[in-house]
Amino acid sequence: MSLGFKGRHIISITDLMREEIDHILNVSSKMEEFSESSSEILKGKILATAFFEPSTRTKLSFESAMFKLGGHVIGFSDPQKVSVAKGECLADTIRTIANYADIIVLRHPKEGSAKLAAEVSPIPIINAGSGQQEHPTQALLDLYTIRSELGRIESLKIAMLGDLKYGRTTHSLAYALAKYPNIELFLVSHPMLRMQKEVSEKLKENGVKVKELETIDSVIKEIDVLYVTRVQEERFVDPAEFEKVRGTYRLDSRLIEKTKDKMIIMHPLPRLDEIQFDVDKTPKAVYFKQAKNGLLVRMALLSLLLTDKTT
Ligand code: NCD
Repeated sequence: MSLGFKGRHIISITDLMREEIDHILNVSSKMEEFSESSSEILKGKILATAFFEPSTRTKLSFESAMFKLGGHVIGFSDPQKVSVAKGECLADTIRTIANYADIIVLRHPKEGSAKLAAEVSPIPIINAGSGQQEHPTQALLDLYTIRSELGRIESLKIAMLGDLKYGRTTHSLAYALAKYPNIELFLVSHPMLRMQKEVSEKLKENGVKVKELETIDSVIKEIDVLYVTRVQEERFVDPAEFEKVRGTYRLDSRLIEKTKDKMIIMHPLPRLDEIQFDVDKTPKAVYFKQAKNGLLVRMALLSLLLTDKTT
């Protein structure tokens, strides 16, 4: 089946229909085979990574995905080392990179950056994080993880804990979950880190049951997924504001004992102190598996956007 992905940009998870998301997840499971060996699906193709913000998982998994499918990678992760440091605007940088590559993965601190890039780019742009707004490929790998661990995405009770204001992964994941029936979302945060009204209202309009809480205690026994995020220090304009919310929640193994047998703990990573190391031992902690799944999902995306071929 081809849903016509070739040549498309991936800017917001809301641009994808549920059928398209399901297709990407199905192709991702097929990629398991090539993740161990390699393939020639993308032979001769070039991926450019343009990272204006730090990254470990997203950048390296995209690069690894490209190599495993037989393609090549160029790119930068330090904007001080490219002409941006001379004052070049994003649009000109993107137009230039498009001459040398077949697809661009972009991470940028400004809201709207990925959209702007897509407007000027003749080749597909994949948004790998646009400011505090969105991180659609993270949402896809989060859904893949939920589906492979729990066997379904619909009819789930999911708690998001942490920085829901600036954490772009929570926005994309919440929008993605809204495409599935019977989702209950508990948004657990410090009042200063609450999900923006604009996002939570959109979720409600799309049929998600949303409840905002300040602690996890009242729902810990009933949730299927606990999605934890770090406080995004780099997005605070005033460092004193960050100090007020630093370390306000910490998950430890005692709290996890209260959860359902078949619940999972997720985190987009990097973690700071919001999940204590003693939690890593429990089989409920799937955040490193989640990071591994990023490779499969990004292999699927690159093959769909560049060739529409998946085997
Ligand atoms: C996330 C991001 O960049 O938004 N990282 C990632 O891609 N896994 C989460 C974060 O930085 O906290």
